[in-house]
Amino acid sequence: MWQKTGLTYPIKPQIFNFACFKKSLLNQHMAEQNSKPCKKFKRYTVTSALPYANGPIHIGHLAGVYVPADIYVRYLRLKGEDVISICGSDEHGVPITIQARNEGVTPQEIVDKYHNMNKRSFEDFGISFDIYSRTSMELHHKTASGIFRKLYDEGKLLKQDTQQYYDEENRQFLADRYITGTCPVCNYEKAYGDQCESCGSSLSPTELKNPRSMLSGNKPVMKKTRHWYIPLDQYEPMLKQWILEKNKNKWKSNVYGQCKSWIESGLKPRAVTRDLKWGVKVPIENTEGKVLYVWFDAPIGYISATRQWAEMNDTDWKPYWKDKDTKLVHFIGKDNIVFHCIIFPVILYAEGTYVLPDNVPANEFLNLEGDKISTSRNWAVWLHEYLKEFPGKQDVMKYVLCAAAPETKDNDFTWKDFQARNNNELLAIYGNFVNRTMVLTQKYYNGIVPSGSKPSEKETEIIKQMTGFADRIGSSLENYRFREALSEMMNLARLGNKYLTDAEPWKIHKTDPQKVENILNRCLQICAVLSVLSEPFLPFTAGKLKKMLNISQMNWDTAKKEVILPQGHKLNKPQLLFEKIEDKQVEAQLKKLCDAKQANLENEKPNIESIKPDATFDDFSKLDLRTATILKAEKVSKTKKLLKLQVDTGLDVRTIVAGIAEYYKPEELEGKKIVVIVNLKPRNIRGITSGGMLLMANDNKEGLKFVTTDKSCENGSVIT
Ligand code: MF3
Ligand code: ZN
Repeated sequence: MWQKTGLTYPIKPQIFNFACFKKSLLNQHMAEQNSKPCKKFKRYTVTSALPYANGPIHIGHLAGVYVPADIYVRYLRLKGEDVISICGSDEHGVPITIQARNEGVTPQEIVDKYHNMNKRSFEDFGISFDIYSRTSMELHHKTASGIFRKLYDEGKLLKQDTQQYYDEENRQFLADRYITGTCPVCNYEKAYGDQCESCGSSLSPTELKNPRSMLSGNKPVMKKTRHWYIPLDQYEPMLKQWILEKNKNKWKSNVYGQCKSWIESGLKPRAVTRDLKWGVKVPIENTEGKVLYVWFDAPIGYISATRQWAEMNDTDWKPYWKDKDTKLVHFIGKDNIVFHCIIFPVILYAEGTYVLPDNVPANEFLNLEGDKISTSRNWAVWLHEYLKEFPGKQDVMKYVLCAAAPETKDNDFTWKDFQARNNNELLAIYGNFVNRTMVLTQKYYNGIVPSGSKPSEKETEIIKQMTGFADRIGSSLENYRFREALSEMMNLARLGNKYLTDAEPWKIHKTDPQKVENILNRCLQICAVLSVLSEPFLPFTAGKLKKMLNISQMNWDTAKKEVILPQGHKLNKPQLLFEKIEDKQVEAQLKKLCDAKQANLENEKPNIESIKPDATFDDFSKLDLRTATILKAEKVSKTKKLLKLQVDTGLDVRTIVAGIAEYYKPEELEGKKIVVIVNLKPRNIRGITSGGMLLMANDNKEGLKFVTTDKSCENGSVIT
């Protein structure tokens, strides 16, 4: 859809002067940041892409956006930072209106259903947003149209009249998605105005052959319409400076790379209004039937959500968006990069009073069992179903999705890996270590922390190692390296587990009681550190562990202390943190996916003709099929479809008339090896006697194609 504004160039900038940028907020901001390489921020505004409210959340969304964002904000909270985590439903856009039409309900009903469902799933899964808002709320409409109006009043938007497809029966301009027709590239008949789903070409509606309105089925007409554009090209200098220079080594290379290629291929004005009824009304006089482009209003949803949160918490929202000491971070998937790195920042910058994102740590995509996740093909693991089928196992999924996160390239989720990570890592290392430590402490000391006052050399070494984890994990998290951070967290559990196994306190309990006290004291301290450092990744588990250890919430830096649990501290009863995941659970999930594949095949079948009634071998052998060569081909005059061919059948040269002119040009055919039925009764077609039939395959998408032999055969060879 990008770059299809239909503008003719050049447009003269209106009332707009680049010189006014010179002493801008951005330049001041940059100058300050450059002089202080490691800037300390006063507060953090962390946003997670607002999911469209027309479908449920799946593991691809979680791995790409919500799991890393949640790990990040939980970490910042533990560090004692002032942080808000913002999300909500993206409730506008054409797909929602199409879905409502298909289901015979209103768009509002669609978004109500999925907003509530997704909000609930996130809560149950333990994603700790400070607010889960929605873009259909009034405050959002006010915020978005306010920003649009300010840009408009200050002459920062361009106005342009263009021709666009219009449905006369429904009296409505047609969004690209509302137009279908034949793909100019592959001839697929159900291509959309923006894309052909058969060959993947991206299209514009005027390229479609035989365009039809999806509303009425009629041929749409061209009609003049007026839209407003944000002149991205005019902001190229600031984008170059901000992204290509300042953020070059700071942003992830996948993000930086996409931005660079966008900027270098030349930015164009982009339409920020649409002819549509569903959305934020354009706040200009005489614009009936027009709304803001969904990608204009949706990111402003972050701001509206912050305002709503501030109202609810009786505080001021402005510092979270306008104070230059605020670190704004957008968590998104890779398909959202251009919107968050170019378009939205340009809008904020043009508005003039907002900060720009400090970072946009976008992830790549997660696949499922080797195949692209797809809502329409039901090839997904849905969050709400997972929560039902694996109750209490939120942390397991969170762990697996973080461990397999598509941080730098697309990655694959498999149920076997899910099982292995649970059984061999969470259960066998983290769970096993905590459980043995707790059970032994109960058994030997009645659940009271023993003395650790006489550490051996080995223990001194362990203490030194243990206290180093908090900074290491923290630094990985601050650099958005979540997989690395997670594996460090597990290394701490591994350290404890190995130490306990090697020390074998159960063997020396009778003979060297003081040593055993020191060992278990040390193991308990490691458990306490784990309960802090694993919280961002495994919040439910960390909560249970703290409860067992009888400690309350602790600051991240507490985990750098050598002793967290004092001698004599009373522990609570141990409980198991993880359970084994059995083969049959994994098989049930794989079966579900197989069923989805099967259902897809069946759904796709209507395109393929069904099987004809049985025929006998005799029926078949009555036909005399031979290989042959086309000698000459010409069009049959006054027809569109017919070609007259001279064919060498090995037995004779005969004339055959065939309806293939739409698919082959005469000059392509001479010399072509084909298969002919030579014993059909001759037929008269348009005054020409046709002495046979050619074998053709009728491809659903591309039409007729010749059936030929594998290797070249002499003419007249019998087909058996
Ligand atoms: N709804 C969009 C998507 O799922 C994301 C919107 S993010 C926001 O791709 F910035 F616009 F809010
Ligand atoms: Zn196509």
